[in-house]
Amino acid sequence: MKQKLIVGNWKMNGSLAANAALLQAIKQGLPADNKAGAAVAAPALYLAQVQAELAGSAIGVGAQDVSQHEQGAFTGEISATMLKEFGVRYALVGHSERRQYHGETDVIVAAKAQAALSKGITPIVCVGETLAERETGQTETVVKRQLAAVIHQVGQCVSELVVAYEPVWAIGTGKTASPEQAQQVHAVLRAQLAAASDKAARVPLLYGGSMNAANAEQLLAQADIDGGLIGGAALKAPDFLAIIAAAQ
Ligand code: G3H
Repeated sequence: MKQKLIVGNWKMNGSLAANAALLQAIKQGLPADNKAGAAVAAPALYLAQVQAELAGSAIGVGAQDVSQHEQGAFTGEISATMLKEFGVRYALVGHSERRQYHGETDVIVAAKAQAALSKGITPIVCVGETLAERETGQTETVVKRQLAAVIHQVGQCVSELVVAYEPVWAIGTGKTASPEQAQQVHAVLRAQLAAASDKAARVPLLYGGSMNAANAEQLLAQADIDGGLIGGAALKAPDFLAIIAAAQ
């Protein structure tokens, strides 16, 4: 069976003290025979701390964003090369909060995915529909449009992506997509990836949106759900560890 991948997205949460305590608890709680992949995507300012705390552990370091530019006059931006220097393995791109609050378009998200890939960082490409889009029957069109922009940009490197389906209405709301709803969209994304690359089966498709210790097992049991992108529940070690335990 394909290895599952559980990624915690801390969003704009944490402090030096809280991060240290959380990472220690996760490292200590991770069973020696853990079979799932795991990573945490921390605020950029804490990446050095996270890298140091996780040194020698199997838990990967992730960033929550990456610039589409290589270097230069882009105040406030952080390049893929810089992330690489801090041991970053994954970078979220196109999280709905970036699309919504920072005006990231499909084209920008695709450029960010390409920038990450070019430096050996795995982009976790986030796609997902809003409630209004779901209610008007546009879910499939929206997620396919978002993913198509990235596929178009990265060409044959598509098999190096991770894709996360995060229905916007399920993020931080406690309203999880049902396993069937999530699987339905994941199947659409899998087919779209398969049409682009014969290696698409190896692209991990993560579900995100109020995934927690109680619902993880059922979601992860779906045929095309290869892992989770966890927000709120990634900030509590017992919850994050329980989700990892459900991913064995
Ligand atoms: O990146 C993570 C998602 O936005 C999910 O957040 O688990 O708090 O709903 P959540």
